[in-house]
Amino acid sequence: MIGTAVQHEYHPRGGCKEIFESREEEVLVSGPAGTGKSRACLEKIFAVCMLTPNTRALLLRKTARSLGSTALVTWRNFVVKEALETGEVVYYGGSSQEAAQYRFKNGSTVTIGGLDNPTRIMSSEYDIVYVQEATEITITDLEFIKTRLRNWRISFQQLIMDCNPAGDKHWLKLRCNDGKTKLIHSRHEDNPRLFDECSEDAEGAIAYAGSSTGYVCVTARGKAYIGILDSLTGVRYKRLRLGLWVSAEGIIYEEFDPAVHVLPWEYDAEGNRLPLPADWPRYWVIDFGYVHPFVWKCYAQGPDGELYMYREIHMTRRVVEEHAAQIMSIVTKEETETWYDHFNGVYRSRTTTVWIEPMPDAVICDWDAEGRKTFERHTGIGTVKALKWVDDGIDLHKARLKIDPKTGECGFYLMQDALVEVDEYARENLMPTCTEEEYASYVWKVSPDGRTKPEPVKLDDDGMDCDRYMTMHLDFKGKARMSILNA
Ligand SMILES: Nc1ncnc2c1ncn2[C@@H]1O[C@H](COP(=O)(O)OP(=O)(O)OP(=O)(O)O)[C@@H](O)[C@H]1O
Ligand SMILES: [Mg+2]
Repeated sequence: MIGTAVQHEYHPRGGCKEIFESREEEVLVSGPAGTGKSRACLEKIFAVCMLTPNTRALLLRKTARSLGSTALVTWRNFVVKEALETGEVVYYGGSSQEAAQYRFKNGSTVTIGGLDNPTRIMSSEYDIVYVQEATEITITDLEFIKTRLRNWRISFQQLIMDCNPAGDKHWLKLRCNDGKTKLIHSRHEDNPRLFDECSEDAEGAIAYAGSSTGYVCVTARGKAYIGILDSLTGVRYKRLRLGLWVSAEGIIYEEFDPAVHVLPWEYDAEGNRLPLPADWPRYWVIDFGYVHPFVWKCYAQGPDGELYMYREIHMTRRVVEEHAAQIMSIVTKEETETWYDHFNGVYRSRTTTVWIEPMPDAVICDWDAEGRKTFERHTGIGTVKALKWVDDGIDLHKARLKIDPKTGECGFYLMQDALVEVDEYARENLMPTCTEEEYASYVWKVSPDGRTKPEPVKLDDDGMDCDRYMTMHLDFKGKARMSILNA
């Protein structure tokens, strides 16, 4: 409970308690999926702001949009819920000068935003900053954030971060190894939604030092959630179930480096993304699916032939008709023209559909004939079959990803946060929700005798296939049509 005006309860445990109580300048709480890391960081921000008037806090993620769909949901629904209801905290939507923020009656503020559009948020000074999914940011981002930590309304100035583990050579892990960032481990038992406190002799009791009894039992919700995590494979299992900092073995696109290949957008003064130049050719690629995700990706080709993937649908459990309607609603709009018909003395109007971005030069699809036909019928756009040779496709795509050491540039980029809508089913089931997540776990199949075969594991690869089809469409120069006859 905090103060008299707001009744709010939160009981942190284990690693979540540690981050809640920490005072070090730079702290990272890392752990598998769903341990309560983000909730602990948000609760800490709330507690600090309630207890000390005029505290200035900042909630950050790599992009503002991704913060909105994750941390801010927990913030509104669980952390400031009662304070919003009593009016102790109010939301202010921001202006062209000021970032959006939550304002406390005692003068404290919690500013929210993304590092993709930092002008308004980074011109201020703060006491405490929380970065969600800190493995997404760069070391330059981190250093920049730290320069803003000097408001000195509270006795310590702190950068708190959380994340699921990434590769063992990730800069943030190395920074923890060097002792520059304090690393706190969190585990599933830390989350009371997944594990209840229980007595030693309760059925299924697990020893856990963070509970008041020294034991916890899995809850029904916990059992279901851990079941989902147990069904993951490869590097996703190791990171999201076990919480280990490991790189995938036999990774196919070793060249892919989010710091280089994922590009930020440019914004106008109102904070809207500026579209890529209209005279750059556009291409669409589609990989049909229902149980596996349906993936639609839009690419623009820059002046040097380089590709920019700027929009993506990555969605399970929707039929092609629904996708076609959504796609057309994104790329076109209805325009109504009204005029006076003098001859008949009446007003008349006509509604036409106009494109609000360049039409694609080609729509490249996987070979699902039914899917292609349905898509064509519902959009009126013709499609072509993708060139599906896997080895050629991977080689050519690797060549595009390769960074030129002289210029630091390459032939293929993903625009940041290009996803149209998060697939909630995929998120709940810990499946990749966008292509960027697939790059880290797309691996070669390993034969039982330990030798690597040149064949990818066919799992979580739908966005990967699209990028390969795109590259093949532009870069594949053909295969010999005649095979050499045996001499
Ligand atoms: N101490 C707690 N008491 C009640 N509910 C909690 C507690 N800790 C976490 N939760 C709830 O559990 C859910 C998962 O928590 P949270 O999102 O913080 O986990 P996470 O570790 O950040 O997950 P991810 O790894 O997916 O980012 C949230 O709904 C959160 O409100
Ligand atoms: Mg989280």
